[in-house]
Amino acid sequence: MKLDAIECMQKRKSAREFSDKKIPEEVLQRILEGVRFAPSSKNTQPWKLSLIEGARLCALRKELCEQFDLGAQSRPDFSQNLQELYRPRAIALGKSILTYKGITREDKEGRRQHDRANFEFFNAKQILVLSVAKEPNETTLMDLGIFAGYLMLAIENEGLACCPQVSVINYADSFRKILPELQEEKIAMVFPVGYPLENSHVNNFRSERENINVWFQKIS
Ligand SMILES: Cc1cc2nc3c(=O)[nH]c(=O)nc-3n(C[C@H](O)[C@H](O)[C@H](O)COP(=O)(O)O)c2cc1C
Repeated sequence: MKLDAIECMQKRKSAREFSDKKIPEEVLQRILEGVRFAPSSKNTQPWKLSLIEGARLCALRKELCEQFDLGAQSRPDFSQNLQELYRPRAIALGKSILTYKGITREDKEGRRQHDRANFEFFNAKQILVLSVAKEPNETTLMDLGIFAGYLMLAIENEGLACCPQVSVINYADSFRKILPELQEEKIAMVFPVGYPLENSHVNNFRSERENINVWFQKIS
């Protein structure tokens, strides 16, 4: 059954456990046909989206986990510095998901495995990599954000799920190493994608949201 847009937005949540079933080709095409209509500044449509699976995905996962295990220096293409203003929300999210998963503050290894799951792409059989040609300006990044929003809703609309990720792009060079097709690209975001695993505890985790009046005002 198709959902309407608002229902889709309210229902969507990040998934962090996936079934082994791949996305059927016709479903993928429907998603792409929808996302194609994402608006962009001056209609520049600056995005590039790559579906990675099979041997290349295994190689990328291995490379990223090696970097993570070595504690390699982060070199993201885009800054991820957390503004002080938003730090409490980020901390609250971290605490709530760890508590939900039963991982205590003292459980260093549990926390490490929680973080490492990102670099395993939560064991998804397919991922989407969103990238952009080198030297994007800030407006281009807005275009990419809007595209990402369209993509996530189109995925939800098909009964699929994903987890938007920036943690993994700390090792952007690893993407370019394993995927030479992206040699000239900057890596913006990654989306492990697929059918969410049924009866998955972690997939039922819900992030809190601020009240509307925290960020909306009417000025007349
Ligand atoms: C740009 C962006 C980057 C994100 N990076 C990660 C990530 O690296 N790992 C992760 O588990 N979740 C990541 N998330 C998911 C957010 O934590 C999640 O969207 C937020 O808590 C709201 O929850 P929901 O997506 O379930 O509604 C990211 C989300 C966005 C939009």
